[in-house]
Amino acid sequence: MSFPTHRPRRLRQSPAVRRLARETHLVPSQLVLPMFVREGLVEPQPIGSMPGVVQHSMDSLRRAVADAAASGIGGVMLFGVPEVRDAQGSGADDPAGILNVATAAVVEEVGDALVVQTDLCLDEFTDHGHCGVLAADGSVDNDATLERYAAMGLAQARAGSQMLGLSGMMDGQVAHVRAALDAEGFSDTLILAYSAKYAGAFYGPFREAVDSQLKGDRRTYQLDPANGREGVREALIDAEEGADIVMVKPALPYLDVLAEVRASVDIPVWAYQVSGEYAMVEAAAAHGWISREPAMLESLLSIRRAGADAILTYWAVEAARLLRPSL
Ligand code: PBG
Repeated sequence: MSFPTHRPRRLRQSPAVRRLARETHLVPSQLVLPMFVREGLVEPQPIGSMPGVVQHSMDSLRRAVADAAASGIGGVMLFGVPEVRDAQGSGADDPAGILNVATAAVVEEVGDALVVQTDLCLDEFTDHGHCGVLAADGSVDNDATLERYAAMGLAQARAGSQMLGLSGMMDGQVAHVRAALDAEGFSDTLILAYSAKYAGAFYGPFREAVDSQLKGDRRTYQLDPANGREGVREALIDAEEGADIVMVKPALPYLDVLAEVRASVDIPVWAYQVSGEYAMVEAAAAHGWISREPAMLESLLSIRRAGADAILTYWAVEAARLLRPSL
């Protein structure tokens, strides 16, 4: 009888040994909750394709951020849904625009208990649904859009946003917004660059959440799902332009990109577990085909293991409470 030389099971023999052998940890402070606030709402409005997620009214947003702060999560990412849209996305940099008003209210509500972050992109505010302004031929005009992003970034910083989430995938957006912030004295405002953002199918439910006007697709600015190296290159460029944090999005279908980016930069790397990833688990769980909470936590842990320092997830508050039942 010969015995195995290697017995990796030794490290799995009991809960106490397994706990000590754990390589990756998931804690509430690593989670960021994306939230939607819709102009003109009196009552929060459920989002059909994202069970458990709502478009908030100003009142329900205030209550929800207070609850999020109590759960111990690290931050919130705010998205605004305006009542009126136009070609320039004017609501984005209007101090009275929904996102800027909501940001000020949230900062007033939670103070420093959460890092208050805002989505910096025009798609919620344009009547054509693109992330930038359009040239005469209908294409997205990169450099004209940078001017709009600078104005939007300043409006958000003035409203009190502590971190701007640059999600529009325009070339040069990090450097341009950074320069505009610095010139106006907002040198402490953080930039989270959605560096490797892929033009895939997993944003479907989000389009309902923000009442997206988009016809067509975003393939001239978001990345081709086939391209991993190009995602790493985008992250390197953004880091070089002054991003404080780079992000990969979506998360689970792009863990390889996440791991590569993690190995390539020395600043924090985050991941966005997007609406479609959330909806898949929720739908399967609603059918009784998957065990909801373990699947939720396993997906988040896997994103951490692949290299994410923090994760944007619609489950942030619920996951935080599962991880720390006392919160
Ligand atoms: C752009 C933006 C999108 C998401 C976050 N920021 C939509 C898009 O690129 O089409 C998607 C998030 C999700 O699906 O959960 N403002």
